[in-house]
Amino acid sequence: MKKPLNILILAAGKGTRMKSRMPKVMHPLLGRPMLAPVLDLALRLKASRRAVVVGSGGEEVASFLPAGQFEIVRQKEQLGTGHAVARARRLLAADGDLLVLSGDTPLLRAATIRRLLARHRKTGAAATLLTAEVGDPTGYGRIVRGRGRRLEAIVEEKDATAAQRALREVNTGVYCFDTRFLRGALRRIGKDNRQGEYYLTDVIAIAVAAGRPVAGVRAGDPDEILGINSRVELAQAEAILRGRKLESLMRAGVTVVDPATTWVEEGVRVGADTTLLPGTFLEGETRIGRRCRIGPAARIRHSVIGPDVLVRDFCVIENAKIGPSCLVGPFAHLRPGSILDRGAKVGNFVEIKGSRIGKGSKVSHLSYVGDATLGRDVNVGAGTITCNYDGVRKWRTVIEDGVFVGSGTQLVAPLRIGRGSLVGAGSTITRDVPPGTLTLARAPQENRGGRAARYLGKKRK
Ligand code: UD1
Ligand code: CA
Repeated sequence: MKKPLNILILAAGKGTRMKSRMPKVMHPLLGRPMLAPVLDLALRLKASRRAVVVGSGGEEVASFLPAGQFEIVRQKEQLGTGHAVARARRLLAADGDLLVLSGDTPLLRAATIRRLLARHRKTGAAATLLTAEVGDPTGYGRIVRGRGRRLEAIVEEKDATAAQRALREVNTGVYCFDTRFLRGALRRIGKDNRQGEYYLTDVIAIAVAAGRPVAGVRAGDPDEILGINSRVELAQAEAILRGRKLESLMRAGVTVVDPATTWVEEGVRVGADTTLLPGTFLEGETRIGRRCRIGPAARIRHSVIGPDVLVRDFCVIENAKIGPSCLVGPFAHLRPGSILDRGAKVGNFVEIKGSRIGKGSKVSHLSYVGDATLGRDVNVGAGTITCNYDGVRKWRTVIEDGVFVGSGTQLVAPLRIGRGSLVGAGSTITRDVPPGTLTLARAPQENRGGRAARYLGKKRK
């Protein structure tokens, strides 16, 4: 029988090296707090209890945790990683195994942790460490091995001798412990070190001294173990995560023309045979269908886009829903609540907000459509504006099927234009228009014969 497993995530640290008022683990990484991937990982592993140690900025961290999934352990003073683990009294109480993860190590893969757990269970070690061989060990605790490469201790960089600093095998801050051993060992660690902290890492030497077996597992990919202590490392981690996401899209049949300038967040899904052109940003919970072409330089956030859609250069799309075979841009702005039905077209310098553009309808140039409902096959001429705001409240405009709105028209809401009507260019429409009507609302034109030359002639002299 497997021993029960508890998981503890350390996330209480001050994050001094971030130079920030925000808790370190809440700094965004590819659109989500860096803690989010660690929580995901913990949820993918079978466990009896899961807890997060929170401390500085604890309320912000606690309120980010998914409801009912994690216990909260409070560490009021950040006296070190050993102290943080010791605070998790309830997780330490039952015998079993305890997996310790760090909230600042978000690139770890579940497969690596499974390997660690398997090794721990197989060897029955008191402690099993995840280590890594890195090119530059700066900032990490070094793994000290003795005769026969046996693990002996972890030495923090600040406490290390020059010879120890030269070691390139580092502690990743991820461990699995036999809980009963850990409970006892935590009582024995002191803070007699350069940082005056209770180091969790000291329990390794305690195990070795007590003759208890300690095992180690190497992470195959040193990128995985990157611990984020500064904003420089935050940017490095983000680049790695971004690369992973783009790679998984490409493997699933998406063309990413220039991965170096393309930004796709974790929660985004993209259909096969879609092409992402350079400078494209896909953010939040965005879904893109198959065979779309997006960009260059489009930004799409929390939106759903159907198949065969063309989003051309420099569009900004947020909280919008775009049906199949639509055409958007270049230079279009779809604000929250924009819905485009199949085959609709929104062209150059058009802003849409809180509006539905019906099947096959077109708003092709220089228009503002706000709080409006357009039926099917409506044509909105260049420079049309829905005047939806009277300075106090917003009103809706309804344009029924097959209406043609001439260019340069103002539609003063609340307003309904009946199906099949024709609105003359340059009109200011303030009253409802019954179906099938030709409506004009503009100042009559005066033509004064022969006056132009006289007027211009005078002016030019
Ligand atoms: C720690 C390890 C180091 C390892 C590195 C891997 C110790 C003493 N050192 O160093 O050997 O190479 O991680 O990234 O453990 N935390 C708390 N409460 C505290 C202190 C820290 O919850 O009182 C949390 C932090 O929020 C963080 C994690 O523990 O998520 C690690 O703390 P950090 O200060 O970043 O440790 P490192 O110096 O990186
Ligand atoms: Ca760290």
